[in-house]
Amino acid sequence: MLIKKIILPSDDNRWKLINATMKRHGYQPNSLIETLHTVQETFGYLDEISLKFVALTLKVPLSSVYGVATFYNFFNLKPQGKHTCVVCLGTACYIKGTNVIAEEIKKEFKLSMGKTTESGNLSLLSARCLGACGIAPAIVIDGEVHGNVSVEKTLEVLRRHENDN
Ligand code: FES
Repeated sequence: MLIKKIILPSDDNRWKLINATMKRHGYQPNSLIETLHTVQETFGYLDEISLKFVALTLKVPLSSVYGVATFYNFFNLKPQGKHTCVVCLGTACYIKGTNVIAEEIKKEFKLSMGKTTESGNLSLLSARCLGACGIAPAIVIDGEVHGNVSVEKTLEVLRRHENDN
């Protein structure tokens, strides 16, 4: 039997968990998404080191790993703030004004997509569709879907979160 020698990025025990996921799947490239889920659950987000480690171990080109990590909105490439706001920019929401909501959030909190405010209290992310088109425009704040949102209502909630100490 071929024994695969895996070199973990550091002696942080969390890498063992990630390796265990890949091992369980026989280090098959098709375990990529599940492995990235484990990375995110373990570290909270996917950084360059983890993406490289997974790419190398599963023998998947790094570009493909980045492709998957950036395509699915449930993966984060950056550490998240205390509160998270995901603005849906899918077609149904976009035509009902989420692009305007996103712009107002950026302006008010001096944020860009995927970034966190200086206080570390608020992260802004976007999604392609939340599967809630019937209540468009939709956003998710701290994991809870809000439908038929307005700019003012959204800013009001986010102001509270940003000032949360
Ligand atoms: S487009 Fe926003 S929920 Fe589907």
